Amino acid sequence: MGFNIAIDGPAGAGKSTIARQVAKKLNFIYIDTGAMYRAMGVYFTRNQTDLADEEAVKKVCDTVEIKLTYEQGVQLIWLNGENVSEVIRTKEAGNMASACAAVPVVREKLVELQKKLAQTSDIVMDGRDIGTVVLPEADVKVYLTASVDVRAERRFKEYQEKGLTAVLEDVKKEVAQRDYNDMHRAVSPLCQAEDAVLVDTSDMNIDQAADAILKLVNTCR
Ligand code: DC
Repeated sequence: MGFNIAIDGPAGAGKSTIARQVAKKLNFIYIDTGAMYRAMGVYFTRNQTDLADEEAVKKVCDTVEIKLTYEQGVQLIWLNGENVSEVIRTKEAGNMASACAAVPVVREKLVELQKKLAQTSDIVMDGRDIGTVVLPEADVKVYLTASVDVRAERRFKEYQEKGLTAVLEDVKKEVAQRDYNDMHRAVSPLCQAEDAVLVDTSDMNIDQAADAILKLVNTCR
């Protein structure tokens, strides 16, 4: 069993950027579990699978191949042999990921894959249920968050940088809606594990947040 760092929190808290930086500093592997739900979401959309059709969803889960590889430390995500690392980064893919993440059989499939990945290496894994469900025995657990306003502003800037048009108020509503969906679904809702340390990044930059996590790691190693 490797050394496991679990980072959970809502969309826009900076999880992936911060987790990636922590992993790089420690020379650990970074596993972005949201990317897996996004890849599944892309597959369901392309195949027009009705998420309410349990049998159809199960069939997809039994046959679909989701794989992670690393190129110079950058995670690539593969869907049935296709590199979907870019395709999964749209707003629609995010919404579809949130929708399919509420389906138990989808979670079962991805949680199993995530547990396997954590067994063999030292990893930093981020998501919504890592400290609570995927790696309840993780060596370090962090619940990373920030206010809705700050997270919406970050998302809004990301859209602008990508040349996408967006209205800040709409982005705020989107972020709040995604929080609601992720926190209120019946299976593995987003919540802070009892033994997770809360890190609020509202007034922190990436380096400060990564340093706060690295300090926690140092106290446990
Ligand atoms: O972190 P992200 O925005 O890439 O995640 C996309 C969606 O996937 C998010 O709305 C909730 C879901 N998700 C999840 O339910 N469990 C995880 N471990 C990771 C993501």
